[in-house]
This record gives sequence, structure tokens and C-alpha cells, in this order.
Amino acid sequence: MSDWTHRHVLDLAAFSLADYATVLELAQRFRAMPTSGARKLPALQGRLVTTLFFEPSTRTRSSFELAARRLSADVVSFTPGSSSLSKGESLLDTVRTYVAMGAELLVVRHRATAVPQQLAEALDAAGEQVAVLNGGDGLHSHPSQGLLDLFTLARHFAPETPTPAALQGKRIVIVGDVLHSRVARSNLWALTACGAEVVLCGPPTLLPEAFAGFVAAPPPGQAADPVAQRGAVRVERSLDAALQGADAVMTLRLQQERMHQNLLSSLDGYHQRYGLSHARLARCGKPVPVLHPGPVNRGVEMTGALLDDPALSLVEEQVRNGIPLRMALLYLLVAGSAQSSLKPSSSSP
Ligand code: NCD
Repeated sequence: MSDWTHRHVLDLAAFSLADYATVLELAQRFRAMPTSGARKLPALQGRLVTTLFFEPSTRTRSSFELAARRLSADVVSFTPGSSSLSKGESLLDTVRTYVAMGAELLVVRHRATAVPQQLAEALDAAGEQVAVLNGGDGLHSHPSQGLLDLFTLARHFAPETPTPAALQGKRIVIVGDVLHSRVARSNLWALTACGAEVVLCGPPTLLPEAFAGFVAAPPPGQAADPVAQRGAVRVERSLDAALQGADAVMTLRLQQERMHQNLLSSLDGYHQRYGLSHARLARCGKPVPVLHPGPVNRGVEMTGALLDDPALSLVEEQVRNGIPLRMALLYLLVAGSAQSSLKPSSSSP
């Protein structure tokens, strides 16, 4: 873990193959450890983690908070509705209040793109020793979800050794509302870095053709791509064609709260063309797993029967894997490379 250099985790475009390997290896170790109740790990004892979610969340926030507690950190959660933001305090001043209380890591979700990055830059400029972890910003990036999806797929393909190499040469289909999905963007960086081929599928209104070139160049402000060779990305309009030869299928929620125009004629029509079902999935030619970052609109992105089918649905597994994966991120950003504190506390049986 000595080559981990990130002070913040804002966008997976900045991750090298070694970074993915580090995170996955640590997540796998945390997943194998009993870390609940009296068996919490003492790694972040006395350290303060703050979650600041300016957008709704069920999974991500709870998962980060559980992850922090399993590492024995103190956790404070900011809730915009009941805060001084409503009294006119600026976002940065609000954040600095938590830093003054001793927060060493802030998990930030915001509906506007780049807010976590701007906060990180402002805090760095002020000389504050605090890490910022992007919990999802606008349409831009959701690194912890991209990483937990990668971890889930790597564990599916190579249960004993879930490393980036497990994804090499795999064909992963991402179907649905790619345009409004920060999860799809983070997955594109992660999956192509590990050598997977990504097939994007959806209607032109929700999947502009330009997505085929999404990982062709690093994002503005980043000088170079840390990954030498990425897997290919292609856009396919027909779901049946996209599913041929697929090794896994990820479907995305229709983000109607982010659609400002009528981009869909009907939900029924969408389900007919892009919804997943057992019958549809049979077109892959072999049993392949289905992923969804949640929350799921049953009967729209996929049938309830498929979502609830433990033989094919990895959706609950994604939720389970989110905790050890986020423990890995918190550990890397707060405890750094000190590995000794990974031992369970002496009170553990
Ligand atoms: C996603 C998000 O918020 O970006 N959900 C999540 O974090 N699990 C996807 C979504 O809201 O559809």
C-alpha cells in the first residue's frame, strides 16, 4: 500500500491500475474480517469522519457511516435541512466548522458537479489536513460506487482473487440512463482501466453517441491518463445485440429528477426496449449476473422477479460489498499506510 498517493478521492479518472489493486485487496481483507459489535477494528479510533449529504441517499451514506464505525471512528452526519445553511452560512464555512471540530475526512454528496473538488481545493489552499471523498456530485462522478461495482464483479469472476485482472477481457454491458448517471461515468473509468470491454446501451436521448469516446482522454484539468491501455467502449442501440457475448449486465435507474425535458415517451415503452427480464437476459447465451446501483424502479429497469432472483441478481451483494470497500477508502485516506492497526482489538474473541 506504500504507493497510495491520493489525498482525496474525487474522480476515478485519476486512478492507476495499482490504485485499483490496492483498494480491492484491502476491501477483500476487510470483507473477510468479522468487524461488527465487539470485533470492531481499532484502525480509526479517535478519528472523526463527517458525512455531508446535500442530496438524498439511502445506501451510500449509511454504508460510509457503518464503514467508519467498523473502523472505530467517530461519525458526525450533517443534515442540510436542520443546519445553519438555512441561516445563510456558506458551504465552505459549514465545512470548516466540522474541520475545526477535528474532522479528518469529509464524505460529500452534492447535486452540483465539482462541489467536492472545489471544497478539497479550498481546504488544501487553507492548509487544512482533511481528506475529501466524493459521495456523488451531479452527473460527474461517484467513485465509491464505481469501486464497489468493480469489487463485486471481480469477486464474481474470481472469488478467491478479486483483483483488477479478473476483469481483463470481460464484456460488461451498461444499459439505461447513462446521460444522467455519475455511476456509469465512474464505472467507465474503472472497468476500462482493468481491461474490460464496455458496451453502452440506451436510446439516443439518454445515451449520446459521444459516450463512445468518454475515456479517450483525461478530463479537463488532469494532465495525463494514469492507465496505459484501456478496454474498448462502444455504443449499441439494440439491447438484444448488446447482450450477445456479455459477461455481466449493469442497469441504471432512470433519473427522472435530473431530466428537464421529455426524454422518454413512456416508462412502459422504455421497459419494452431497455428493461431486463429473465427472457431478455437469456439472449446472453449463458447465465450472467445483473447489477444495479439502486434505488431500483421495479418493472422499469428490470422486472421484480429478476431483481429478487439470487441466482442472477448481484444487487444485494453490491450493497454488502459497499461496506468493506468503503472501509478500505476510509482507511487509506485517514490511516495512510500504517498497517499495524489492521489487527482486531484485543477484546476480540
Ligand atoms: C446512485 C446515485 O446516487 O448516484 N445511487 C447510489 O449511490 N447507490 C444512483 C441513482 O441514484 O440512481
